Amino acid sequence: MRQRALRLPVLLGLIFGLAGADCGTEMKVAGYEGDDRESWQQIDRVIETLGLSAGQQVADIGSGSGYFTRHLAPAVAPGGRVFAVDVDPEMNAYLEARLAEEGIENVTVVLAEPGDPGLVEGSIDLVFTSNTYHHLPNQRAYFAGLRPYLAPGARLAVVEYEPSKAGWFARTFGHATPKAQIVAAIVAAGYRLEADHDFLERQSFLIFEPSTP
Ligand SMILES: C[S@@+](CC[C@H](N)C(=O)[O-])C[C@H]1O[C@@H](n2cnc3c(N)ncnc32)[C@H](O)[C@@H]1O
Repeated sequence: MRQRALRLPVLLGLIFGLAGADCGTEMKVAGYEGDDRESWQQIDRVIETLGLSAGQQVADIGSGSGYFTRHLAPAVAPGGRVFAVDVDPEMNAYLEARLAEEGIENVTVVLAEPGDPGLVEGSIDLVFTSNTYHHLPNQRAYFAGLRPYLAPGARLAVVEYEPSKAGWFARTFGHATPKAQIVAAIVAAGYRLEADHDFLERQSFLIFEPSTP
């Protein structure tokens, strides 16, 4: 009974948090970080695969509670910075507080417009986005619009629930996108697929680079 009671906030958080609804910080954090995520996300392997170096600048688009931001930050230290970009002021405030609590100093939290992260032109070495692709309005236009923000040699990494592997919730409520659909939109936006990593049990993990300098 107690276990069931404990699961309820996580389930509600998953429903409302993934839907981006205004339902309270705790619920959203439970939605983004619950469901025993540590057991399937393989965050260390994802970060290692990104091959980041000290001094680089990363934009985490749709940073939410900072699940990835907080792991990306040490990967670019010293001298690097993560821009945690989100349209949700409540989540941004939560993340600011959590970063301060954890003593992570190389993150700038950015309140974005839905169609534009509002970064500095030519500054970003890696655009990273996790479980956010399906939230973005007109993905092709969105990723095309990111091109001016990229530094020479920049890459784009997209982690997204894959319908053929994700759980019922992501499939049923449209929080998953077929890999082929992501590749088609991002290639049309002016990138080429550089790597297709298939080690995540619920998500696709794709890396792109601009197709023209
Ligand atoms: C499901 S959460 C993913 C959070 C985090 N990336 C993770 O993997 O735990 C999606 C996040 O994307 C944000 N979001 C939705 N539309 C966005 C947009 N157009 N630009 C930036 N962030 C957006 C939401 O506010 C939410 O915090």
